Amino acid sequence: MNSSVFSLSPYLSVFVIVWLLFIQIPSSVSNNGLLTDCRNKFVCGNISADFPFWGTGRPPACGIPELELKCENDITKVIIDEVRYRVLDINPDRQILRIAREDYLVGFCPPQFANSTFNPMVFETVNGYTNLTFIYGCMAAPGNIPIPGVFTCKINQVNDQTGYLEVGATGPGRQCYGSVFVPVSVSDFTSSFVNRPALEQDLKTGFEVRWKVDKAACEECTNSSGVCGIEPVTNQTICYCPNKSTGSKTCLPVFSPTASPAIPGMNSSQFLMLHPS
Ligand SMILES: *[C@@H]1O[C@H](CO)[C@@H](O)[C@H](O)[C@H]1NC(C)=O
Ligand SMILES: *[C@@H]1O[C@H](CO)[C@@H](O)[C@H](O)[C@H]1NC(C)=O
Ligand SMILES: *[C@@H]1O[C@H](CO)[C@@H](O)[C@H](O)[C@H]1NC(C)=O
Ligand SMILES: *[C@@H]1O[C@H](CO)[C@@H](O)[C@H](O)[C@H]1NC(C)=O
Ligand SMILES: *[C@@H]1O[C@H](CO)[C@@H](O)[C@H](O)[C@H]1NC(C)=O
Ligand SMILES: *[C@@H]1O[C@H](CO)[C@@H](O)[C@H](O)[C@H]1NC(C)=O
Ligand SMILES: *[C@@H]1O[C@H](CO)[C@@H](O)[C@H](O)[C@H]1NC(C)=O
Repeated sequence: MNSSVFSLSPYLSVFVIVWLLFIQIPSSVSNNGLLTDCRNKFVCGNISADFPFWGTGRPPACGIPELELKCENDITKVIIDEVRYRVLDINPDRQILRIAREDYLVGFCPPQFANSTFNPMVFETVNGYTNLTFIYGCMAAPGNIPIPGVFTCKINQVNDQTGYLEVGATGPGRQCYGSVFVPVSVSDFTSSFVNRPALEQDLKTGFEVRWKVDKAACEECTNSSGVCGIEPVTNQTICYCPNKSTGSKTCLPVFSPTASPAIPGMNSSQFLMLHPS
């Protein structure tokens, strides 16, 4: 019983070493983990995306909370303000996302009862779209609505089944059960209002929203061989760098004996003498 811990069992020593490896590794590679993870592209069908999107192999720290992408059978999906959308296109240069509501891909009825709203901190509207409101559960449509703008929809526990369309983001009023507004393309609008197949096609083609993320800050980061992410508390763009922690917008050049000189022909100590910090 007086043997020391180290002579107790070689297995215990091995166990301790393995255990030390496990507690050492995560702390030394955690930032490189995010660097690697956030360099992964989201790829689904013919859609690919990186910052400011996350999901499917990209941890939450790689993107802004509202922009989580999911891949289901090669179809990209996103939930924004509780509304389910199919992602049809992502244009990183213009910072534009084209999405279509999943519920309206199969007709007007029954919808997910939620308006297509967008957090103005994260999104801005794109010219060329206007809101269209679908009003449900009415006894009758107002007399001035053209017939193609009137439809029938049975909603659980609601007796009245008449629905109609109204331009703008409006409410159901007292006469009807509920309403849903969604942006539609303005260009086809006049025709689609009287042409139901055209409107159904518009809803499938979807609409665009622009995401508002500081593109220059991210460019500064990627130009310095970092990868952009989001600081979870402040929601600010941050830069994950090789060998370095986060918090700054760029991976500043690190002076080391092996680093190439900042000015050709000059070594790092000469550079530091000229530029004392
Ligand atoms: C993906 O493919 C569909 C159908 O093949 C096409 O309509 C769409 O424009 C493509 N999207 C992108 C981003 O290439
Ligand atoms: C739709 O209506 C909402 C709420 O009024 C508004 O914030 C948004 O800008 C409108 N969208 C378009 C495309 O006009
Ligand atoms: C959609 O917005 C309108 C206007 O703000 C509101 O009256 C209506 O209740 C909203 N619909 C849903 C499903 O929240
Ligand atoms: C990043 O690099 C590109 C190409 O070298 C350059 O055009 C761009 O201005 C740089 N952006 C920033 C923010 O430094
Ligand atoms: C960060 O984003 C989340 C999700 O949109 C939001 O709930 C939170 O208030 C934001 N925090 C800040 C500091 O803006
Ligand atoms: C990371 O640091 C090590 C040693 O500190 C160095 O050898 C390596 O070049 C650095 N890598 C990068 C990408 O800066
Ligand atoms: C930098 O160059 C100066 C002058 O040529 C030399 O004295 C010094 O040793 C060099 N320092 C390094 C780190 O190479």
